[in-house]
Amino acid sequence: MTRSTAPLRAPDVRARKGGGAPLVMVTAYDEPSARVADDAGVDIILVGDSVAMVVLGYDDTLQVTTDDMAHHVAAVARAKPRALVVGDLPWLSYHVSREETVRNAARLVRAGAAAVKLEGGRKRLGAVQAILDTEIPVMGHLGLTPQSVHALGGYRVQGKQLDAAQEIVDDAVALADAGCFAIVLECVPDAVARMVTDAVPVPTIGIGAGRHCDGQVLVYHDLLGLEDRLTPKFVRRYASLKADATAAVARFAADVRAGTFPSSEETYHLADDVADALGLHGANA
Ligand code: KIV
Repeated sequence: MTRSTAPLRAPDVRARKGGGAPLVMVTAYDEPSARVADDAGVDIILVGDSVAMVVLGYDDTLQVTTDDMAHHVAAVARAKPRALVVGDLPWLSYHVSREETVRNAARLVRAGAAAVKLEGGRKRLGAVQAILDTEIPVMGHLGLTPQSVHALGGYRVQGKQLDAAQEIVDDAVALADAGCFAIVLECVPDAVARMVTDAVPVPTIGIGAGRHCDGQVLVYHDLLGLEDRLTPKFVRRYASLKADATAAVARFAADVRAGTFPSSEETYHLADDVADALGLHGANA
C-alpha cells in the first residue's frame, strides 16, 4: 500500500473520527526522533512538554518554558515530517492573559508546529477560544493533566468516581464545542474514555485510557525503552534502547582500554612515500 505524502493537517485528523484506522501519535523532541516517528508512519508527532522529564532531566513538566518548547518544535520541524506536528503549550504559557496565550501559541507555530495542545477543560475555554481566533488548531488534554500535578496531589488515575467521570465528559464536550480538533485522554478508566469518545464528534487519543479511543499516544522514550526508570501500567515497550545503548558504549570503552580501537581500517594513513620522506618508516603498520 502506498502512503500519501501530503502532510497531515488538523482537519485531516478531525475527519478521522469514527472511521478508518485508529490515529497513531508519538512524542518526539528533536530531528532524529521526528525522522524515526515519520518513517514509521505515525499520524501525529507531539512535541510534548514531557521533554522536561525524558530529555532535560527535570522531575516534572512544570520546568519548561515557551522558549524551550519552541527550540524543540523547531528541531522536530526540521525533519519536515508528513505527520502533523503539534506543539505542547507549557505550564503558565496560557494561564496569564489572552494576549500572552496567543503570542505563546504563535511562537510554537512560527517554530514549525501546525497545531498546539493545552491541558484542562472548561476552565481553559478562554485560552482555547483565543488561540482558535488566531486560526491555530487546538488539541485538548483531559484526565491526568501533568501540569496540575500539585493540585491533583500526584500522578493518579482520574475520573474514578461518578462526579469526576461526569466532569471529564462535560469538559470534553465543552472543548469539542469550542472547536478543539482532537482530545488527549490521559490515565482514565476505559469506561470513562468510552463515554467521552461516544460523546464528542472529534477524535480522542488515549494514553493509559484503554482501547475505546479513536487513537493512541505513547512517549517516544517509553515505547523505545530509552526511559527505563519507571514503567507505568499503560506503557508497552517495543525496544530496550537504553540497555542496548549502555552495552554499546561499554563495548566502546572496553575496546579503547584494551587498545583495540581504533584499528588500522578506522585510521587515516599517510601515503607510504610521504611517510618515508618524513622518515616515518613503517608508520602505517
Ligand atoms: O507531553 C506529553 O508527552 C503529553 C503526552 C503524554 C500526551 O502530553
